[in-house]
Amino acid sequence: MKSTISIALLVCTVPVCAQDLAALSAETRSTVLPVIPQVIAKMQEAVATEGVAGAIPVCKDLAPQLIGKKRAETGWDIRRVSLKTRNAERGTPDAWEAAQLTEFDRRAASGEKPETIEKSEIVTVNGRPVLRYMKALPVSEVCLGCHGPAEGLDADLRRTLADHYPNDRATGYEKGQIRGALTVKRPL
Ligand code: HEC
Repeated sequence: MKSTISIALLVCTVPVCAQDLAALSAETRSTVLPVIPQVIAKMQEAVATEGVAGAIPVCKDLAPQLIGKKRAETGWDIRRVSLKTRNAERGTPDAWEAAQLTEFDRRAASGEKPETIEKSEIVTVNGRPVLRYMKALPVSEVCLGCHGPAEGLDADLRRTLADHYPNDRATGYEKGQIRGALTVKRPL
């Protein structure tokens, strides 16, 4: 018995072992990802009933609120990031996130299904292990109304976006591209 324990310790000390990464990723996924279909369902409903300009609060307020609720429940740092932000203050990636987003774009361009693209890694921050997890947010039909080519956007929406987001870089997307990612930093 004693020897089994010491072997397990040897295998797992630096810093968390491989089967832990798989288990931690699965747990992170099942905790955080349910937010995505919730936001998309609300988005479809709001676009259908309020029109695109009226649906802005779903991506602007509801998505951050649902993410905030998950942060409060778990204590993990959860955000949305993008290489082309609409709201740079909230959505600018750090260096690790920017590298993954570039890699996600490359993976999507080489034929990987965007809805399955994700990345998990255990990194060390100030000497302590942290799980970093990122899940790609692909552009689906409903996203195009507000993130598609600028010239095709509804006139009301364009005015509202110009007022609120003078530095908007989040247009010009096509279906199947990666709009950004949900990102998690989970101290272990
Ligand atoms: C009704 C308009 C609208 C629709 C539809 C919409 N968005 Fe957004 N999106 C916005 C607005 C407005 C923001 C800026 C939010 C803020 O102020 O934090 C935003 C921000 C984001 C961000 C955060 C990063 C950034 O650019 O600031 C992501 C990621 C995102 N949207 C993904 C999506 C995806 C994926 C879809 C489709 C499932 C989608 N959006 C559909 C309006 C929309």
